[in-house]
Parts: sequence; C-alpha cells; structure tokens
Amino acid sequence: MPIPKAELHLHIEGTLEPELAFELAARNGVVLPYADTDALREAYRFEDLQSFLNLYYELMAVLRTEQDFADLADAYLARAAAQGVRHAEIFFDPQAHLARGVDMGTVVEGLWRALGTGEARHGVSTRLILCFLRDESAESALQTLDAAKPYLDRITGIGLDSAEVGHPPAKFREVYEAAAALGLRRVAHAGEEGPPQYITEALDVLGVERVDHGLRCMEDPALVERLVRERIPLTLCPLSNVRLRTVDTLADHPLPAMLDAGLLCTVNSDDPAYFGGYAGDNFDAVGTTLGLSEDRLRELARNSFTASFLEDDEERRARCLAEVDAYVF
Ligand code: HPA
Ligand code: ZN
Repeated sequence: MPIPKAELHLHIEGTLEPELAFELAARNGVVLPYADTDALREAYRFEDLQSFLNLYYELMAVLRTEQDFADLADAYLARAAAQGVRHAEIFFDPQAHLARGVDMGTVVEGLWRALGTGEARHGVSTRLILCFLRDESAESALQTLDAAKPYLDRITGIGLDSAEVGHPPAKFREVYEAAAALGLRRVAHAGEEGPPQYITEALDVLGVERVDHGLRCMEDPALVERLVRERIPLTLCPLSNVRLRTVDTLADHPLPAMLDAGLLCTVNSDDPAYFGGYAGDNFDAVGTTLGLSEDRLRELARNSFTASFLEDDEERRARCLAEVDAYVF
C-alpha cells in the first residue's frame, strides 16, 4: 500500500485519459482528429506549457454533459485511491467549458455526482477549486465568479491557471478580493514559467495561501526566506515539470534543495493523463530518481495534509497525519 497523501494540485480536465476521451467522443458524436488512442498518445510531446495547453483545451470538446464530468471525476478518484490519495483538492476550468456552451451547473453538478460520494466509495475526501484562465480578461474572471455564485456550497476556493508569462497575478486583484469577501480560499499558479516576482505578487496582491508550482522561487533567496518564514506551501508537480521542460530531467529537479531550504513542499500530479503519472507515481519518481530518504517522503506526505484546506474537518486531517506517521515503508 502506498503512503497516504493529499493531492493539492490536480486539474480534473487533465485526468482525461485517451480511452475515456474516445468513449466520451463516441457518446457525444464528437470527432477527434486522431485515429485512435495510440495516435493521440503520440501527440503527448510538449515543448512548453502552451504546447500542452493547446491539446488540453482541444480534448475538452468531448466533455458535454453532467454524466461526462461525473465519469471523469470518478475515474480520477479510482486511480488516485489506488495510489494512496486520501484527500484531493481539485481544480476545474469553467471558462474553458462556458466558451463551448457548457454551463457552470453542468460542470459543478456533474463533478459533484462523483465527488459527493467519493469518500464513501473510494475513501477520498475532496474539495473543489475554481480556476480562472489568466490569458482571459479580468472582466471574464469576474463574470465567471458571478456564474459560480449559485454553487458556492460546492466550491472551497479559487485558483489561477493557463498561460502564465505576460499575465501577472495583479491583473486579477479585483476578482480575488471579491472571492475573499465570499469566504473562498485563494491559491494561484505562479513561478512555473513566470518569474519569481509573480510569486511575490500572488502573495501580496492576491493574498494567496498556497502557491501552485512556485518552482522559480529558487532564483530569489530573499523570496525563499520569506516563503519559509511565512510557511507558504508550494504545490510542486515534478513529472509535469519534466514533460513541460521546466526542468531538463527529473534528476535536475530542485525538490531536494527546496526541502533542505526548509520550504513547505508538496508533491502532486498536475495533469496526470498527460504527464505520465498520478500522485503516487510522482512520489515514486522523486523517491527513486532524487534519492529521497524515507524521512523525506514521510515529510512530503505530512506536508500534503498540513497544507490542505481541511480546516473544516480537523478530525480527518489528524487521522490522515496519524496514518502517515504510522506508515511502514
Ligand atoms: N499550468 C498552468 N495551467 C494549467 C496547467 C499547468 O500546469 N495545467 C492545466 N492548466
Ligand atoms: Zn497546474
């Protein structure tokens, strides 16, 4: 049994495996421009974030009904559970669906059909985080938050994703303020491809409580010192970083140096169908390739629960942490 862990950086649309993509395409009469699942897998060679995003948005065309979103989420929960995930905080990208005529209710209620019973059926508790696409306008983000208002009992927080460079966090100050006033938790992708200043801006202007990726903080020692001092969690995604060429090889990943620096790092899968692995695969890969000790792996698993938004269920957090502490490698 793999070590118990929480997954805090997971785009549900990025869990769409080729087999399910073709099944949903057939169900919905959508023609994919790939002959079969092998041909589609061949397209999984990315130069950077944008080349991945192009395919990620293209394949979303198969997601049309509540049942499609339920099937997507259920497939993720089954895979995650098998890899030791006990809690998942799940991103979704409503603007990418609204643009295709799929409304907020279809997405949220569809996901909820699977997530609402995820703890009972798979032993995985979940929270939903609505992400704004940073390459869309600030006004579109505000409209999206408005569209989400009937569903806030299902949504724990907001995030910021998609093409980072040229779209600094400050562009979204207003929508983050509005979300905070609604009681939503705040996170943002920063420092994946964008510079360390974007991390600082996400903290200072958007008031984020966690930074997604945050890898490039290592270029700024004063920022590292601040992240350590303020105990800001970073949701790292090692296999994603390799596939999107943020690092040259996994052996070059700065995770060991980040842990040595005292950063509150977590290990996550980002878009597992595209990047070659789910949460447990990421743990295994860093354990093996980066030679992390059992103590370090336990620290990463502990961090995942410490950094999670389980303030509304401290009992579950404590139970999960106790499971990590009792885990025998
Ligand atoms: N980065 C930014 N946006 C994203 C990602 C990512 O890794 N995955 C899905 N949207
Ligand atoms: Zn991401």
